[in-house]
Amino acid sequence: MRGSAPSTMSNAPAPERSVPFYRPDIGEEEIAAVVDTLRSGWLTVGPRTQEFEEEFARAVGAPHAVAVSSGTAALHLALDAFDLEPGDEVITSTLTFAATGATIVHSGARPVLVDCTRDTLNIDPADVARKVTPRTRAVVPVHFAGQPAAMDEILEVAQQHRLKIVEDAAHALPASYRGRAVGTIGDVTAFSFYATKNLTTGEGGMLTLTDATVADRLRSRRLHGMSRDAWRRYSAQGSWRYDVSYPGFKYNMTDLAASMGLVQLRRLPALHRRRQEIVALYDELLRDRPELEPLTVAPDVMHAWHLYVIRLRPERLRIDRDALIELLKTAGVSTGVHFIPLHLHSFYRDALGYHAEDFPVASAAAGTILSLPLFTLMSDDDARYVATTVRRLLDANRR
Ligand SMILES: Cc1ncc(COP(=O)(O)O)c(C=O)c1O
Repeated sequence: MRGSAPSTMSNAPAPERSVPFYRPDIGEEEIAAVVDTLRSGWLTVGPRTQEFEEEFARAVGAPHAVAVSSGTAALHLALDAFDLEPGDEVITSTLTFAATGATIVHSGARPVLVDCTRDTLNIDPADVARKVTPRTRAVVPVHFAGQPAAMDEILEVAQQHRLKIVEDAAHALPASYRGRAVGTIGDVTAFSFYATKNLTTGEGGMLTLTDATVADRLRSRRLHGMSRDAWRRYSAQGSWRYDVSYPGFKYNMTDLAASMGLVQLRRLPALHRRRQEIVALYDELLRDRPELEPLTVAPDVMHAWHLYVIRLRPERLRIDRDALIELLKTAGVSTGVHFIPLHLHSFYRDALGYHAEDFPVASAAAGTILSLPLFTLMSDDDARYVATTVRRLLDANRR
């Protein structure tokens, strides 16, 4: 009611500034491209999707790109393409999003979780090597926060044991490892274009790969397992006749999403530069804080900077990570946690028997990491406000 303050209103003064965790960077060009597609008479998978695949493949430097409805669909389809069987094992990092583990389960295999390395929080190649068994069929390295994992070591293990590599590159666009673009390294690479990702189509994903036979299989399986050009069946150039050679999925991208993706792809280098600028500001203001244990960036990688993760040294603080998140929120700064490692979730604990002690690095990180806002529409002042607020709170709560 007018004039009467809601009872939930706190007495705390409004923060000086409010910085959300994320806001998508969608401009007039994306809007115009989607409107054009709406007017074109073709909404679902079609010519824009094909064009997006071609441009994406060219941008990454991969021979083939297959567009799908999400990063999760990309991972599932990639694993499905290798026809895994019950009892097969797929190794992945425990420090990842739910989708990485779930798609391994959906592909019929058992997710074998491994720990991460303390310096980068990326998948630990030594632990990958330790966890290989005669049933291991594939490894799913996750390029955590956008930094490429130690691919040479992982490729070596894969070659030794004839394992497939499906990279979870949901965070890693654009990124490169020792001169090779992420998207050209493993057997198949899965990207995500979810609303918060470095390139967004609202929801969407892409697979890149070299093998033409596997690319054809992915194209067919993403649309019910129908014969190759079945998506054209409602157009003048298409035919109503198709064959279903496999019980496939409904994982196609739409032309609406692809038209947005085409614009975002053209903007990607500039969007990435802006992320690097914000990271430089954060680094400058947060580097050398004794209460923080920095994550390192390998010298020979290009980091996509999807996330800016800070890690607390609990022995230097009187408050824990959860309390810091609340204090930041009160100060107008929204943060996230990436991730609660898979082994700490009830499914992995109860159904698969994982324990916190088996993953010392990820288990410690689970209670000490948080991700600061990192999006291209942030101003330098927003970034400075976030970093100085973190510094102020660390100072005030130092042990
Ligand atoms: C590491 C990782 N893998 C996979 C996914 C799944 O992607 P999507 O949300 O596009 O299905 C995400 C995020 O959403 C992610 O962070």
